[in-house]
Amino acid sequence: MLEGAYRIGLGLIVAMGLMAFATTIRAPNGYGRYLGDKLAGTIAARPGWLIFEAPQWMAFALTFWFTARAININTATLLLLGLWQAHYLYRGLGMPFRMRIGSKRLPIATIWFGLPFNALNGFVNGYAVGHAEHLASASWLGDPRFIAGLAIAGVGWVINVHSDNLLFRLRKPGETGYRVPYGGMFRFVSSANYLGEIMLWIGWAVMTWTAAGLIFALFTIANLGPRALSHHKWYRATFADYPPERRALIPFIL
Ligand SMILES: NC(=O)c1ccc[n+]([C@@H]2O[C@H](COP(=O)([O-])OP(=O)(O)OC[C@H]3O[C@@H](n4cnc5c(N)ncnc54)[C@H](OP(=O)(O)O)[C@@H]3O)[C@@H](O)[C@H]2O)c1
Repeated sequence: MLEGAYRIGLGLIVAMGLMAFATTIRAPNGYGRYLGDKLAGTIAARPGWLIFEAPQWMAFALTFWFTARAININTATLLLLGLWQAHYLYRGLGMPFRMRIGSKRLPIATIWFGLPFNALNGFVNGYAVGHAEHLASASWLGDPRFIAGLAIAGVGWVINVHSDNLLFRLRKPGETGYRVPYGGMFRFVSSANYLGEIMLWIGWAVMTWTAAGLIFALFTIANLGPRALSHHKWYRATFADYPPERRALIPFIL
């Protein structure tokens, strides 16, 4: 029965990814800089982020602990569980308190779309790690796919967190305006944090070698790719002195 739910979950995530791409390529999701002063249909951004991200770490942990095959509970899968939890506990419980978003709001529609996606994504990834045949032995830790994926994910995570930190520091406490970010990977692209996020999930897909990991990486590209293009256009329209050599998402290319 759970295998069926896993397959349906993968299908639903593919559908959500196509939907996210089709809508965000036309207009960016209306949170952050695209929300303006709108109050109707919104909630305070900080509790919004806390609610929004919670299903990712809860669903992964619950699915893994309660459904994993005994043989799939080994050093390799426990490391994967630990990495997922460390990332999402930071993203879900730490980052919302580090963001300088003051009195900003988050659209309830964003949360309504995000909650089922995050719950499904936590479930399918937890299930995949707990059931994949190739993850039934700790020897996976020595597999070139695990080592290469871990390296890509590690570099992506550092770029993502470092870039987010540079963005947070652009505002003094209480400020809500925008400035041009400099430093780190912002030398090359406008959405350095999204570049890191995409690398992180490509790395996860490679290091887990599962359909769930691959579909999440593709979803992240479909969701954040168009948003990175919107951010780039917005920076160029907003700041006359915006560095002309800077690309949107992929250094020197896009
Ligand atoms: N895996 C996925 O599909 C997915 C989806 C969404 C987000 N994420 C991740 O979640 C994190 C946050 O995403 P996001 O979409 O909120 O990123 P974002 O638009 O880059 O904003 C990140 C934070 O920095 C602030 N900020 C951005 N640009 C700024 C500037 N030029 N001057 C001053 N402050 C600035 C934003 O404030 P405002 O909110 O006030 O604009 C926000 O608090 C990122 O690490 C992203 O990769 C992942």
